[in-house]
Amino acid sequence: MRVDLPTALPLICPACRRHSDRGLDLSSLELLPGGYLSGDEALEGTLRCLGCGRLYPIIDGVPVLLRDLAQIEAFGLVSLEPEALALFAGAGPDGSMLAHGAEQLSTYLDSSWGDLADPKLPCGFAALAARLAAPERAATALELGCGVGRGLLSLRADLVVGVDQSLAALRVARRILRGEPVRYARRGSGRKYSGAIITAPAAPHVQLICADALNPPFAPATFERVAAMNLLDNVRSPRALLHHLHQLAAPDGELLLATPYAWRDGIVEEGERLDGPDALRAELAQLGWTELAEEQRVPWTLRRDGRSSTGYDVHFVRARRGPGGTHSQP
Ligand SMILES: C[S@@+](CC[C@H](N)C(=O)[O-])C[C@H]1O[C@@H](n2cnc3c(N)ncnc32)[C@H](O)[C@@H]1O
Repeated sequence: MRVDLPTALPLICPACRRHSDRGLDLSSLELLPGGYLSGDEALEGTLRCLGCGRLYPIIDGVPVLLRDLAQIEAFGLVSLEPEALALFAGAGPDGSMLAHGAEQLSTYLDSSWGDLADPKLPCGFAALAARLAAPERAATALELGCGVGRGLLSLRADLVVGVDQSLAALRVARRILRGEPVRYARRGSGRKYSGAIITAPAAPHVQLICADALNPPFAPATFERVAAMNLLDNVRSPRALLHHLHQLAAPDGELLLATPYAWRDGIVEEGERLDGPDALRAELAQLGWTELAEEQRVPWTLRRDGRSSTGYDVHFVRARRGPGGTHSQP
């Protein structure tokens, strides 16, 4: 029986990509026989690099393509069944892996999909979702740092790929985007959770990969549209992220970016922080991108619990790659 690779695009080994005299050397991945299938989809299985032989797992239908598998967040591997999660998170303490993970997951699910669980809840991502829905349909689109995946529903393309390093977020996103009613633990206050159910339209054209946005498992120039919403201030080097987005975009590709510039110690290196919209524009211009649209303040709200939320005004940019754009090496 034929078993589909988890994406319709070739997946590239993140461990043995290197620049050599010949240019960029890339090795693709193959799916090993065996594993656990649902129809022709591998829910559990193993991918092997045809170059270096390194193995990568598929968990709940999501390939984990981290160069070093020890980078995986342990929360990604636990049961996300809401009653069990609520009990373990409730046991605390607040800073424990399960309490923190449940809080983060509840925040992003509520802010992104909460309106589809409870029509009285606003969608904190609605304004950004509207900006992602470009008028022209593309063949391929990518969102780096897609989180629980609401943006993927808005990106208009025949094939949409979402990448995040949080396996927990992707495991839930995959089920939501298949159109399954998904139960999750919604934070009421403190470590108290109750169940809620998200029912979203099915999006069979979306595929998800757990990977590092600073080591993406794709060949250069693969995507007609590339996006990163609220990711620039979540990576070690925003400039390296821009270089990767630049490399992954097709020669006449489009770029969608949003950021609140919310720098934090221990996340973004001090010398790598971009000093606001002017600095971002300058970086993009240097890479050969021309702005098509820009908005200084697009609202983005994260619901923390039943009584609190955090609001951001994010800077949004839509740009197209000019013909003279450089191809830099991050
Ligand atoms: C602030 S959230 C934004 C999520 C979503 N794009 C949104 O706007 O709601 C940042 C996301 O980036 C992911 N992330 C952070 N660093 C990453 C990296 N190096 N590679 C891939 N994903 C990363 C986090 O797991 C998280 O889901």
